[in-house]
Amino acid sequence: MSNRERWGSRIGLVLAMAGNAVGLGNFLRFPVQAAQNGGGAFMIPYFIAFFLLAIPLMWIEWATGRYGGRHNHGSLPGMFDTLWNHPFAKYLGVSGLFVSSIVLIYYCYIESWTLGFAYFSLTKGYFGEHSITEMNSFLRSYQGIESGHFDGFGTAYIFLLITIAANFYILYHGIKGGIEKFVKIAMPLLLVFGVFLAIYVFFIGTPDPSKPENSVWAGFAFIWNPDFSALSDAKIWLAAAGQVFFTLSVGMGTLQAYASYLREKDDIALSGLATASINEFVEVVLGGSIAIPIAVAFFGLSTATMIAQGGSFNLGFVSMAVVFQDLPFGNILGFIWFILLFFAGITSSVAMAQPVISFLKEQFNFSHRKSVFIVGAGLFFCVQFVVFYLKYGFLDEMDYWAGTFGLVIVALSEVIVFAWIYGMDKGWEEINKGADIRIPKIVYYVMKYVTPLYIGFILIYWTFVDAIPILLMKNQPPENVTYLWGARIMMVLLYAGFTWLVYKAWKINKHKYNYHNV
Ligand code: PHE
Repeated sequence: MSNRERWGSRIGLVLAMAGNAVGLGNFLRFPVQAAQNGGGAFMIPYFIAFFLLAIPLMWIEWATGRYGGRHNHGSLPGMFDTLWNHPFAKYLGVSGLFVSSIVLIYYCYIESWTLGFAYFSLTKGYFGEHSITEMNSFLRSYQGIESGHFDGFGTAYIFLLITIAANFYILYHGIKGGIEKFVKIAMPLLLVFGVFLAIYVFFIGTPDPSKPENSVWAGFAFIWNPDFSALSDAKIWLAAAGQVFFTLSVGMGTLQAYASYLREKDDIALSGLATASINEFVEVVLGGSIAIPIAVAFFGLSTATMIAQGGSFNLGFVSMAVVFQDLPFGNILGFIWFILLFFAGITSSVAMAQPVISFLKEQFNFSHRKSVFIVGAGLFFCVQFVVFYLKYGFLDEMDYWAGTFGLVIVALSEVIVFAWIYGMDKGWEEINKGADIRIPKIVYYVMKYVTPLYIGFILIYWTFVDAIPILLMKNQPPENVTYLWGARIMMVLLYAGFTWLVYKAWKINKHKYNYHNV
């Protein structure tokens, strides 16, 4: 146990955890969610979910991870097994392996588009596509959905290969030598680029003086004028909670995996809060100051919201790429934007691979090399379907079941295991061990009562409003049906595969897992 790898420094840990949380969610998903859900109307439920769901869960996950790490467990099956002395505990933890790997599969493909677009910015590859429609078809052609600019997805495929190679190069070098070293460069750069772009936006002002209503100020007003009347709309509450989960990487098993490389007495209270604060700064201050104000300034508020309704990537990829062409040094600005996205993405995707890598190493005694290789090969295999069947909604199907619904299930199970089975008194002690700040006692009660009830409510509501219609494939064009079933079969197979591996691992290691009897 003492030979478990450790983070090298506190700053390294905080940057790695912040890198895990700060991702495409902050710059692509957040603006789209905010725009689709009424801007200022969205921010109130967003912050409520942040304080009542994300912060308590974040501390629970750090504590669960550090505790699991003491027993040499870096993934959820083992962590639940240490917290809950019951044969079912480890199987409940399978969801943690499942969600992080499914999200990894589609996330790294999107991440590779940002690299592609960084390249096209520098080389002015998309220059000349002057309207939203034209740029949209450029993107779709890059993705192999439409013909036109590219012959199939060959170019996209090359950037995907580079992205996967970069991820596994970092992972291959381990926690301290790979991830920590990388984030110490990537995160400061990301912050500098983000702050630079956000300041730049202020100078854009009103790009077309004949249309004074189209300004960055109108964009800011849209996000920051609270709209209390919208609080009665349950859909906005769900969207806000979903965004808060995704952006802070809670309910995935990745915060726990990173925290398992802490020492028993290392502080988690302050470090956790610091990383959540960095994430929120990047999300609402930087993420909120770039894509939406720019779109409102150049296209007007109603078109900007329409662009956002049109799809998750339209604000970040399409409208930004159109605007860059009209700005001085637009190719450099475009490069800064897309490479910023790439850094945000890669510091998250390496985190998503970590739970399964830890699992293989610890539960099967595989070498680090072998574990990294297996995960890399598995990812490479599965991502093919995402690339080839993108246009049939394969990616969205995975994003819904794992990236939206799945993480709420994981979150509910971990709060129950931690606060109710392991017990909130012991749990509270665990969270506060080595703490550099005093967490107010009210958080204890929030963790025990409010967070689980809130999640439970979301889950029930979501099941009826979204999950059942999506399960029944309402509103899906008939040609998608076969592929969506394909996505589901792939997910079920992965889930079953992980369950089987857990079964095997516990059979092999029975003698090692006797921590409940000591
Ligand atoms: N939080 C990341 C983002 O905002 C996504 C992520 C999900 C990271 C799951 C790790 C695990 O993009």
